[in-house]
Amino acid sequence: MAEYKEISPNASAGEKLLNWVDNRFPASKLYKEHLSEYYAPKNFNFWYFFGSLAMLVLVIQIVTGIFLVMHYKPDANLAFASVEYIMRDVPWGWLVRYMHSTGASAFFIVVYLHMFRGLLYGSYRKPRELVWIFGCGIFLCLMAEAFMGYLLPWGQMSYWGAQVIVNLFSAIPFVGPDLALLIRGDYVVSDATLNRFFSFHVIAVPLVLLGLVAAHIIALHEVGSNNPDGVEIKGPNAPRDAQGHPLDGIPFHPYYTVHDILGVSVFLMVFTAVIFFAPEAGGYFLEYNNFIPADPFKTPNHIAPVWYFTPFYSMLRAITGEMMYALIACVVGAAFFGAVKSKLPAFLKAGVVVAALVAVALMLSIDAKFWGVVVMGGAVVILFFLPWLDHSPVKSIRYRPSWHKYLYAIFVVVFVILAYLGVQPPSPIGERVSQVGTLFYFGFFLLMPWWSQLGEPKPVPDRVTFAAH
Ligand code: HEM
Repeated sequence: MAEYKEISPNASAGEKLLNWVDNRFPASKLYKEHLSEYYAPKNFNFWYFFGSLAMLVLVIQIVTGIFLVMHYKPDANLAFASVEYIMRDVPWGWLVRYMHSTGASAFFIVVYLHMFRGLLYGSYRKPRELVWIFGCGIFLCLMAEAFMGYLLPWGQMSYWGAQVIVNLFSAIPFVGPDLALLIRGDYVVSDATLNRFFSFHVIAVPLVLLGLVAAHIIALHEVGSNNPDGVEIKGPNAPRDAQGHPLDGIPFHPYYTVHDILGVSVFLMVFTAVIFFAPEAGGYFLEYNNFIPADPFKTPNHIAPVWYFTPFYSMLRAITGEMMYALIACVVGAAFFGAVKSKLPAFLKAGVVVAALVAVALMLSIDAKFWGVVVMGGAVVILFFLPWLDHSPVKSIRYRPSWHKYLYAIFVVVFVILAYLGVQPPSPIGERVSQVGTLFYFGFFLLMPWWSQLGEPKPVPDRVTFAAH
């Protein structure tokens, strides 16, 4: 137990109250440790806005969600009409609903940028592996949250999107059909599905999400933030002042609290502009087909997930029977490298050959649809391993060989093209492009242990680079 602190009888009422609380709950201690005496690098740039913006959007989603639930009816016969009722009759209901639907897309924009910043500056590397892993967990939860939330308005896209995605699970050998049945609670998407998705969307997943966000921040504050130079400001040799505070750091409050207000202001301007002037965002944030009530007897001509899922959806569609031969060639090539070219011990080389043979046998015997699901899931799972894939001698892109910048730029372009193709109806050219894109995406990560070491890194400074403005 912490020592009980006495306070002067002449102290103000406010100080006495705080002292009373501090003797029972570490309010001042938490405030100091996480805000006024939490030192963050002084060279943060705009990429560092997105963490606090993600928190803001999380709060917006929870608060607007609470108000939506007051009027929404999780019943297949009432759901669509209850959303229309919110839009037309509930006072300010339209605003709350548009904030929530726009917030979903804003969340993904902010989180994608936040993750990309991590990629740029090597923020996932030692000692921040757990910050990154909790982040990847958050990303998975967000995807689940968005997917289940999208069924709730019970429009045509809600219904058929869920139908397509849940059916994917039935491609898993042996357990697939039962698993899909378990998820749906029925043989087709129905009222039972709506009820369980509602329950997960409003309580189960948000709880996990909040827990993971807390873990993400606790892990971050344990090790301290990275920065655009990738120089550790709290490392054993980092310069410190007489009190032991890092010379390259500034207290989070007031410096970054004020700094973040700038990010929040710009974000809110764009966010409100979308809500008031283009809440459907041309069919990207709210799809046109979702303004038609769900009809289990009428499949829409073209079913596409919301934009934030489409890079992964494109990868799923890219895995055709033909593409399987390209993937088998990749496995054979990797096994050849592992068994002939590498310096592995003999028993491991034998293991590589056996694993490759088993993989090829499975790839030939199980339907391509299943491998599409594996590739789609693998595209997210691979992110968890990033801390161990990057072997570059330096963290930040600033000090890597210049061509790394081009590689990252191509990665972004490929990701955007995959996202674009995922919203388009299937076409032979689109299919080929998405296949090349998928190979590039996985090549980027799987070959990272090799390419990240290539080239001559630039000299990393001892201190962060910072010019006062
Ligand atoms: C609800 C979603 C999320 C919230 C609220 C959130 C919040 C934050 C906050 C407040 C910070 C510190 C400020 C900053 O560096 O921008 C941070 C840092 C970080 N986040 Fe997240 N985050 C989220 C999702 C993610 C995801 C999906 C990833 C990666 C997969 C991720 C990876 C990181 C990393 C690596 C850092 C440390 C960055 C550095 O020090 O350079 N976060 N996060």
